[in-house]
Amino acid sequence: MQEQDRILIEKAKQLINENKLSEAETILVPINNEYSVFEIAKIKQMQGNDNESEKLYKQVLQINPDSVESQLELARIYARQRRIDLAKEFYNKYLEKIKDNADVYKEMAMLYESIGDNIQSVKSIEIASSISPDDIQMSFELGIAYREAGRDEDSAKVFKKLLEREDVKNDKFLNNKALNEYEISTRKEILESKPRAMIGMIMNKCNISCRICDIWSRPKWQEPDRILKEIVDLLPYMEDICWQGGEVFYMKEFNSMLAEGVKCKNLNQVIFTNGLLLDEKNLEIIAKGNVELVLSIDGATKETYEYIRRGANFETLCEKLELIKEVRKSTGAKINTYLNPVICRRNYKEIEQMVEFAHKYEFTSITLNPIRGIPEENIFEPIDEQAFEFMRKVVPIAEQKSKEYGIRFNNWMPIDCSCGNIEFRQSEIQEKDVEKELKNNQSLEEKKKFPTENIDAELNKADSEKNEEKKEQQIKNNRMICYAPWQRILLDNDGQVRPYAICTKWLGSTSKYSLKELWNSPQMQLYRRKLANNDFMDLCQPECISGQIRNKLCRPVEDK
Ligand SMILES: C[S@@+](CC[C@H](N)C(=O)[O-])C[C@H]1O[C@@H](n2cnc3c(N)ncnc32)[C@H](O)[C@@H]1O
Ligand code: SF4
Repeated sequence: MQEQDRILIEKAKQLINENKLSEAETILVPINNEYSVFEIAKIKQMQGNDNESEKLYKQVLQINPDSVESQLELARIYARQRRIDLAKEFYNKYLEKIKDNADVYKEMAMLYESIGDNIQSVKSIEIASSISPDDIQMSFELGIAYREAGRDEDSAKVFKKLLEREDVKNDKFLNNKALNEYEISTRKEILESKPRAMIGMIMNKCNISCRICDIWSRPKWQEPDRILKEIVDLLPYMEDICWQGGEVFYMKEFNSMLAEGVKCKNLNQVIFTNGLLLDEKNLEIIAKGNVELVLSIDGATKETYEYIRRGANFETLCEKLELIKEVRKSTGAKINTYLNPVICRRNYKEIEQMVEFAHKYEFTSITLNPIRGIPEENIFEPIDEQAFEFMRKVVPIAEQKSKEYGIRFNNWMPIDCSCGNIEFRQSEIQEKDVEKELKNNQSLEEKKKFPTENIDAELNKADSEKNEEKKEQQIKNNRMICYAPWQRILLDNDGQVRPYAICTKWLGSTSKYSLKELWNSPQMQLYRRKLANNDFMDLCQPECISGQIRNKLCRPVEDK
């Protein structure tokens, strides 16, 4: 390759790292060699355009059939697209040449696991951990793979061995993780290990009064200090916490809690916020650690935004978003920001503008959420045909624009816009989990008002055949459908506690009990016992029983 081309490609790679994808592509297109085409393929992939990316990687392989990197990327695309045979073929092509890449064996294991081939999954992970026998994370994977294959004893042995390692013993996070996995594999009902993930709706006070939300109108409530202290004490053991209010930045203790979290290197913190109370002080803390911001902004214009987010000021919001950009620049911190508009009657015509807004303020992703409740703003229940017709046209255009800007685009509205496959990053999964959780909250609120056993029974009946089948499979594998009650805890914004968003049985209230008590409360033990005995039909939700959300629950956060 000519020196000049090499320099240009290096420059383009740097731009790709800075997420300046269009600029990078402009440099790469005229070069047209194996390396430039490879980089353009990467750009397309980052923009979520797997089809274009696939074509380009194939083009690289035509120029150089030995491009193992292209084989690997193709395998990954096919795995994402669930074109399993092709994925296997390309992983195998790669592994024929590169035999010592443990991570790729791990990817293959995940592929096999996703199609329920636990035997092959275990084989791949066994190879991976034989390549990296001292790799702690790989040992975790091996233990989990054994358990997924119904080999609880082998799994427990792996975790026991991990617990004997000095470096694990001396690390409270790893020690808790290994102990927790051991306790799952041995199906313990009372745990010594501590929760590994939390959704913490720690207060309901708010600085504004959005038209789409009723939290601000409820009697003011905040978790008692003793619970806040318990949460802080748990942070070093956790991998994942999602903070929510009300508006958490409106709470005087929040900055110091956040700062404690930032000290924990294994912890990912996600904050749902309206963004209006961001300032130099809290952004300085955020910039120091692994913190992501989900910003709830329901309009791209002053009029719409201020109408929905009643009490908010558009100029103030824009200043805060500028401040995030500045802090990113001055500190070099990544600070992922996720634009999270709730789509409703007042704002659906601004979807395209929202993408421009996301671009202007350098958002990492945009997620279109359907509004729940609020009849005067609700275009989903009942369906407003006019709005749907408009959105069917506009959403694909917005998605395309978003991809061009390198902003991931998620459409969670119940509307078919022929948008491509959506692949969620973990943080976005968390958003979606919380989204689900909010849905549940709503139904739970209703459940508090009305006895729902009959409705639940009807729903369960509708799913019962499918679920019976799943149940049989689970029992045959001797595998539990979910580990959430061993790993997670959710604090609702009225003090009630559940294992996870999708769980409907309360464990008790923080007004009466400590988190420690709730973690091993009789209700939590019941959850664990029933799951351990595959006796979950009257306890768990159809989505859990059918396995739709299994992976998310098992692995709240990908190992970093
Ligand atoms: C209740 S707020 C609390 C966190 C923070 N104050 C905020 O606005 O992000 C959590 C999320 O719920 C969303 N939300 C509020 N009311 C909603 C509704 N009626 N339908 C759908 N989402 C709603 C908000 O936009 C926000 O993303
Ligand atoms: S800012 Fe968040 S909590 Fe406050 S009223 Fe709006 S949606 Fe509700």
